[in-house]
Amino acid sequence: MKYLKAAKKNAENVKKQILSLDLFDKSRKIGFEENFVLFPLIDISNRRLKKYIEKSIKYKTELIEKEDSISPLKNNATYINQIFEKYKGSLAKGYDILGNIAIIKSELNKKEESVVAKEILNFNKQITTVVAQIGAVSGKYRLRKFRYVLGVKTFISNYRESGCLFKFDIRKTFFSNRLSYERERINNQVKENENICVMFAGVGPFAIEIAKKHKSTSIVAIEMNKNAVKYMENNIILNKTPNVKAVLGDVRTQSKNYKGFADRVIVPMPKSSMEFLNQILEVSKKKAIVHIYLFGDKDSVFADTRKLLKLHAKNNNYTVKILLERVVRPYSKNEIEVVVDYKINRTLPI
Ligand SMILES: C[S@@+](CC[C@H](N)C(=O)[O-])C[C@H]1O[C@@H](n2cnc3c(N)ncnc32)[C@H](O)[C@@H]1O
Repeated sequence: MKYLKAAKKNAENVKKQILSLDLFDKSRKIGFEENFVLFPLIDISNRRLKKYIEKSIKYKTELIEKEDSISPLKNNATYINQIFEKYKGSLAKGYDILGNIAIIKSELNKKEESVVAKEILNFNKQITTVVAQIGAVSGKYRLRKFRYVLGVKTFISNYRESGCLFKFDIRKTFFSNRLSYERERINNQVKENENICVMFAGVGPFAIEIAKKHKSTSIVAIEMNKNAVKYMENNIILNKTPNVKAVLGDVRTQSKNYKGFADRVIVPMPKSSMEFLNQILEVSKKKAIVHIYLFGDKDSVFADTRKLLKLHAKNNNYTVKILLERVVRPYSKNEIEVVVDYKINRTLPI
């Protein structure tokens, strides 16, 4: 069985990174060895595992092979693994956990689905509902369709991340726990008194986590799905973060109301973020830092993005300095999701 061995002090962040890469095998238990934590990994080739680990995990880790210790769950866990084994080849196999709700993502037959659902409820007491995802994220609100499978009949998730609680309907709003490491990474860079614009804010995870840690920040969170804004407003109250203002509307029009506002702009809309370079510039102060998420070709995305950013800067009389290029997760056979951090400087003689 494969494990990723990481020092205890880095364990929380390493876990977030493995989760975002879909490499975490949730049907096996985490192991411990002196000052190390052993994270169970899904069974794909060592070559692929090493590639993802090298590209995306910035902490010192070691890929190891080790027999699992016998546990009463072993037989069933093996059975779940066998079921999921059938769907090997896609990194999106298995299931996701959003707080109290487990989401089965593989297309299982009814018998397999009911065995897996029962096991998930037994295995993890925090999960009280199991649903199945039907189809991929789609539409302008980036929504998914779900079917109820077992447990408490609800689609409302109560999900905790970085000391914050988020409540939202998984059918009516977008939420991705795969960005938890990114949220923490950005949060650690924020300085006191910053003005921040979070575009495509969803139910508020980026905005609220920053606001909770940095009370002196002023954050504008723009989102066009009115259900998401309703949940974001509730999440602002739940987490006592009045320094976040939820703005209902299209980034294309709302950005005009926040001209020159932001020291930092966060753009978590990988499907179309590069279409919003004008709005990013519009909300930015003369100097600002931008975190932009995008999908692109695994071999050329960084070079392509650099080129587009430089061209936009040249045409609009500002400069761009690339601060970081990072792979967030694999997306499809040839595409990956990445984040590029860059600095805008408009203090140029015209
Ligand atoms: C990929 S989700 C990101 C949500 C959130 N930031 C998160 O990380 O959970 C993109 C969000 O942008 C919203 N959206 C899409 N186009 C928009 C636009 N033009 N203006 C404002 N919001 C938009 C969608 O409704 C969706 O909630």
